Amino acid sequence: MAAVPAQRILVTGCDGQVGWELQRALPRLGVVIAVNRMQMDLATPDAIRACVRANRPTLIVNAAAYTAVDKAESEPAAAQAINATAVALLGEEARQIGAAMIHYSTDYVFDGSQSTPYVESDATNPLSVYGRTKLAGEEALASAEIPYLTLRTSWVYGARGRNFLLTILKLAAERPELRIVADQTGAPTAACEIANATAAIAERWLASDPVQRSGTYHLTASGKTTWHGFAQEALRLRATLRPQEASRLARLTAISTSEYPTPAARPKNSQLNCEKLAQTFSVRMKDWKIALASVLQEMEAGAPATQSAL
Ligand SMILES: NC(=O)c1ccc[n+]([C@@H]2O[C@H](COP(=O)([O-])OP(=O)(O)OC[C@H]3O[C@@H](n4cnc5c(N)ncnc54)[C@H](OP(=O)(O)O)[C@@H]3O)[C@@H](O)[C@H]2O)c1
Repeated sequence: MAAVPAQRILVTGCDGQVGWELQRALPRLGVVIAVNRMQMDLATPDAIRACVRANRPTLIVNAAAYTAVDKAESEPAAAQAINATAVALLGEEARQIGAAMIHYSTDYVFDGSQSTPYVESDATNPLSVYGRTKLAGEEALASAEIPYLTLRTSWVYGARGRNFLLTILKLAAERPELRIVADQTGAPTAACEIANATAAIAERWLASDPVQRSGTYHLTASGKTTWHGFAQEALRLRATLRPQEASRLARLTAISTSEYPTPAARPKNSQLNCEKLAQTFSVRMKDWKIALASVLQEMEAGAPATQSAL
């Protein structure tokens, strides 16, 4: 494999879960220019153009997105602007300067009615505004005529940011009982694992034939669980790490989706088959339980999780 020339990498959404971790993972590939919403508002086309033209990256990694799944139902224009229009603009700007682009998408592009894990070529049918706008972003990038990767991931959590893990840990310390949905299946995926995998993928992708291997890839932790199973394992690990708090942690009750109505519908089956990624880039993600244990241990130690098995 040829050596990858040093890159100039523009990372968007650098205050988000994945964007934050990318700032740790990507420097081995070159110079990282990380921008947040203040430095480049994706809802403002002129800000996108100005930022890309001023920085002239060789690679754009777009970790910014409108991710408030339920809120998107009442703000479809904002979700469309950030998840689709901005992606098209980034692609257009990348084409002008000969840059490649890595973008993230979601299991929510599927309706979840299939019983087996989804492969990349399975038919999409998003159930929500968020899913529809993310799918529109995928399509915009695929037609941008640049070398690109769309990495679909799922159930992202980490030691910082807004996510299910941190919400559960907080509520479990405050309440006697938590009722958690147990009939949606997927793979909780740690933001630090996504960032580490992105660096490994980018290195291998840019080293040979990026145009040929452009496309959509599934990138989630191995294994599967439900939101209830995720919460159960998180509290089990927390109790092991903090035995003095174990008896005070909330009791978990499994409920069905119909008992927890939300503005946006979620797929029942969110499992993504990641074999294409493994075959193309030799990247396999850890089992979700192993990654979760490592994130919780690092949180306990007061440091972010950065280890990867890649
Ligand atoms: N979170 C999940 O469970 C999940 C699941 C599947 C796929 N994904 C995908 O994975 C990628 C990374 O998600 P994440 O979990 O890291 O999301 P996140 O933690 O919500 O971070 C998203 C970032 O995008 C930024 N952003 C939002 N609107 C913006 C705008 N107008 N201009 C510039 N920046 C803006 C946010 O800025 P502020 O900090 O200022 O709000 C935030 O820092 C996204 O493409 C997402 O769709 C996420």
